[in-house]
Amino acid sequence: MKVCVVGSGYVGLVAGTCFAESGNDVICVDVDKDKIDGLKRGVIPIYEPGLKEMVLRNCEEGRLNFTTDLDLAVKESLVCFIAVGTPPGADGSADLQYVLSVARSIGRAMESFKIIVDKSTVPVGTADKVRAAVNDELGKRGTHIEFDVVSNPEFLKEGAAIDDFMKPDRVVIGTDNVRTAEIMKELYSAFMRKSNRLLVMDIRSAEMTKYAANAMLATRITFMNQIANLCEVMGADVMAVREGIGSDSRIGYDFLFPGVGYGGSCFPKDVKALVKTADECSYDFVLLKAVETANERQKAILSDKILRRLGSAGDKPLAGKRFAIWGLSFKPRTDDMRDAPSLTIINRLLEMGASVHAHDPEAMNEAKKHFGDRISYSVNKYDLMRGADALVIITEWNEYRNPDFDRIKELLINPIIFDGRNLYHPARMKEAGFEYLPIGRNG
Ligand code: UGA
Repeated sequence: MKVCVVGSGYVGLVAGTCFAESGNDVICVDVDKDKIDGLKRGVIPIYEPGLKEMVLRNCEEGRLNFTTDLDLAVKESLVCFIAVGTPPGADGSADLQYVLSVARSIGRAMESFKIIVDKSTVPVGTADKVRAAVNDELGKRGTHIEFDVVSNPEFLKEGAAIDDFMKPDRVVIGTDNVRTAEIMKELYSAFMRKSNRLLVMDIRSAEMTKYAANAMLATRITFMNQIANLCEVMGADVMAVREGIGSDSRIGYDFLFPGVGYGGSCFPKDVKALVKTADECSYDFVLLKAVETANERQKAILSDKILRRLGSAGDKPLAGKRFAIWGLSFKPRTDDMRDAPSLTIINRLLEMGASVHAHDPEAMNEAKKHFGDRISYSVNKYDLMRGADALVIITEWNEYRNPDFDRIKELLINPIIFDGRNLYHPARMKEAGFEYLPIGRNG
């Protein structure tokens, strides 16, 4: 099938590459000429395991092409995906200007029947706006060409995007046209081996499904973070509680790991946007508002603990203290720093007068854009501990899971570890001579 994907960012590039991998002819489009030139040479603008190899292979075999020429891409394709960004506007709602401008461009370029698919995360009702924008452009041209608008939200996790796309738990297709549903089913049939759950529904429900899924997951994490905080006060162990509740098949184990608050480019943005959409319909979504507030507080949990344990009086209570940080990205296997809890934690430590030395396997270049030389960076995960008052773990990269504890003890001034991700066993840490402060369990 001939497919074009407009927007070669995270979602667009992964989707386009995976559609090519399953045998379709794909053209990925972007306005950013440097990005497209880079992609043509095999330079991948994001870090995502497995993506580069797949892009190179499909380019070489001629199924995947990159261009800035949207008109040409649209003319040659039956299915046109819109996968451009929907950044939060000043009021928290999703900014649709890029989506609608692509819709207009498609309307100007199309010469035959097209299926126009919203893959960007867009609020309920966007498909109607896309349809209106395309119709408006066709009207200006004085032509009538048939087209369909489909909502096909994406459920990729950064760091596992290829797998999530190739073996999805489900694919959601929102359409009111049976023929279009059949074409979309055909396009996705190659990926339906794992679950065979291709769910066709009305357009508005598909649009809502995306926000409801992310809001539910953000709520689960936040609930567990609050249970963890309570466990700490009550002397319970949140990891045991997680096992205890997760074994109930109605609850399950996933996304119940307490930590330093959720971050990234999706949960914070989508929770805000859903609250805003609800407000616009005069519905007060009290639960999600509380989730946002609780998550902001959770991002301060580690720095509060550090202050309580190592702070002194005065307006710079951590002056003269030095901290070794492990992990900067919002989660492992990505270099993404958007809304990363590390931003809040490190800024608070700096405000309190501390000096910060950080390590991250992938995100140090991204981190430099935020912190510049206000913190120092180390490519070696041990070097930065020499003379530090404590180790602070923010992101659960695998390479932090089994470190050389003897070496850590030797390098730190005090053998103190503040662990925002519960990587180690408290009893074993005690045996090894550490003061260990995890989340929701007593060290
Ligand atoms: C999330 C969703 O998981 C995807 O299904 C969705 O497609 C994507 O947003 C999107 O809307 O595009 P992502 O933001 O890549 O994916 O990352 P997650 O793995 O969901 O993690 C989000 C945040 O939650 C991270 O900060 C992570 O540390 C935190 N988290 C996750 C926890 O604190 N505890 C958990 O148990 C799980």
